[in-house]
Amino acid sequence: MNPDQTSDGSMWDRRFAEDHYAYGTEANVWLQSIVENLAPEPNPEALFPADGEGRNAVWAATEGWKATVFDLSAEGERKCHLLAEEHGVTVNYEVDDLVLRTFPDRHYALIACSWFHTPPAVRRKHMPRMLHALAPGGHFVMEGYHKTQLNFSSGGPKSLELLFDLDEVVGELTGPGAPPMSVAYAAVEHTVLDESDLHRGEAAVVRIHLVRSDA
Ligand SMILES: C[S@@+](CC[C@H](N)C(=O)[O-])C[C@H]1O[C@@H](n2cnc3c(N)ncnc32)[C@H](O)[C@@H]1O
Repeated sequence: MNPDQTSDGSMWDRRFAEDHYAYGTEANVWLQSIVENLAPEPNPEALFPADGEGRNAVWAATEGWKATVFDLSAEGERKCHLLAEEHGVTVNYEVDDLVLRTFPDRHYALIACSWFHTPPAVRRKHMPRMLHALAPGGHFVMEGYHKTQLNFSSGGPKSLELLFDLDEVVGELTGPGAPPMSVAYAAVEHTVLDESDLHRGEAAVVRIHLVRSDA
């Protein structure tokens, strides 16, 4: 498969065009549990790749982060701005594709994403490339569905190749395409999700927390 294949956001636009928030309005619980224990410099900047309707970025903005989202969906952008307004914060949202996006070098104190699944060839090339946007000492936090999620009905892609194998993904994110990264936490976990009707019930997930380790 072409690692530079762009994606069509129309399915996400249809989903996010509804009045309700497809994955709820609260931040992803695991992401939140890691981020609230970080002690970044004043005015920290964070990037939320594929944040959909912006629930993670809006929460982070309420915690004092300067938050930027990129995502395929213009409807996601609209919903994110509504949610941000409700919370009295602002989020910078750019409709963009991981494959096409140019990242600033050594910039963000945090990059955090939930349920960001791409075709494997895209993931292998562009997720490590994205990590170069982390400042030294910066954190990468991600939750996604594990390959055994096919046994459950609590959300996620129905295609095995889009789901995560922990060793494979950690290998990519700490491999030659990425800056030096140390593993703070990486595990497959069985959990119970309660995010929305789409993400509710027993689930098999991967949870990864890496720290950029060069000076
Ligand atoms: C399952 S939703 C999760 C949304 C959000 N992270 C959350 O947890 O609420 C997946 C999101 O990934 C985005 N996405 C998928 N492929 C993408 C790509 N190549 N570049 C940017 N965003 C992408 C979609 O637009 C969608 O908003």
